[in-house]
Amino acid sequence: MTSEPMKRSTSHQSGITIVVGAQWGDEGKGKWIDWIAGGADIVARYQGGNNAGHTLYVKGQKVVLHQIPSGIFHGGQKCVLAAGVVINPGELVREMEKVAPFAKATPDNLWLSARAHTITPWHIATDGRREAQREAAASGSAIGTTKRGIGPTYSEKTARSGLRFGDYVNPVARKNWMEAMASAVDGFAAHCESHKAEWESFSKVAAQLAPFVCDAEARVRKAAGEGKKILMEGAQGTLLDLDHGTFPFVTSSSTIAAGACASLGIPPRAVTGIYGIAKAYLTRVGAGPFPTELTNETGNALRERGQEFGATTGRPRRCGWFDAVAMRYAQDVNGFDGVILNKFDILSGMDELKIAVAYEHPELGCIEQFPWNAEILAACKPVYKTFPGWHGDLPKTGGIEALPKAALDYIRAIEESSGIKVVAAGTGPGREEALLGRDLERLVALNS
Ligand code: IMP
Repeated sequence: MTSEPMKRSTSHQSGITIVVGAQWGDEGKGKWIDWIAGGADIVARYQGGNNAGHTLYVKGQKVVLHQIPSGIFHGGQKCVLAAGVVINPGELVREMEKVAPFAKATPDNLWLSARAHTITPWHIATDGRREAQREAAASGSAIGTTKRGIGPTYSEKTARSGLRFGDYVNPVARKNWMEAMASAVDGFAAHCESHKAEWESFSKVAAQLAPFVCDAEARVRKAAGEGKKILMEGAQGTLLDLDHGTFPFVTSSSTIAAGACASLGIPPRAVTGIYGIAKAYLTRVGAGPFPTELTNETGNALRERGQEFGATTGRPRRCGWFDAVAMRYAQDVNGFDGVILNKFDILSGMDELKIAVAYEHPELGCIEQFPWNAEILAACKPVYKTFPGWHGDLPKTGGIEALPKAALDYIRAIEESSGIKVVAAGTGPGREEALLGRDLERLVALNS
């Protein structure tokens, strides 16, 4: 029997929406995914692991989620960790306990893909060791990873020797994997011996998670075929994508919109909307080139006002001006239907604002296209356009046109220089602190 192929939906009431970080991560995806998720039937994380940190406010309380999609707080929704995700089992159990006062994670509302790969104590130790080696080898060669074992787990997956989650929760398959690793990988057996307690707790939580493990992709495809509303949630951001980001200063997964389809086994033609989340300025955490970085008082002011400290590691984020060259690239790579500009309120009170519209390279001259090479990008100086700022508090809710003229001019300049359509602006951390713009109908349909 053949099943009906999934078609591109023309209805704004159903379909598959992808939400992607448009910059170097930390764009405030958690707040917006929470906002959009209100009307979705399924919210699926499509890559990354507990290197991500999505901050949201539930009943006035700050909650940081690293693995569970924020849909967990909207009763009745199914939350998915899809095949492209790497899962830290112990941390996932702790996160389930953290959300328990607000929402109970059950096998009915939390689906863990049997195809997802497992972050083990070995991978976490390897991440730390490799970073230390890079730091010792040459200054500037460390990536500044979150040390959560992300890179080593994805490496193991692509080497086809990783531990899939369906095998992790099966005691026999897990034992076989550990024996295979012990005989093939130097130092693995010794690590297991010297980190007994970690490995014991790693094995112990497997039984607790086993009921949650399923063929999540098949369930999502079935739901999509039934016209359910599906939100695919990215972590990190476009410029941290393994292939299309600022390699090697990237994460180890496919963060871009296309990665969602690969991770969930969804035909690209079934996708009905792709939205980017960007900050109204720019930040980066960890090492790597950042042409518009401000290492002065203005950068410090952005960090303090925007509370730019990593949700996962607490590291101070590097801050800088909006980069339209990078945003044009993100638009080209993802094909956004619209972009939400977040943390707009942080810019209030600045006398002037700058947008990088091109780069100047000492040998290559003027560059308008985001370079493929991190060394070239590191040598680029931004070519800025300057705009007057605005003072005073911004409206918290309503239409985007309620913004002061200088703020609207700034948005227009971002749209023109980046080739994007700004569909909403974030004016505070709360779910309701959002100014809505044009062409939001598909997102609003999901949000209703
Ligand atoms: P990894 O993902 O831990 O391997 O780290 C690789 C790079 O991605 C480092 O520069 C990290 O700082 C960065 N990174 C990883 N996750 C996030 C995130 O959620 N937000 C921002 N940067 C991230």
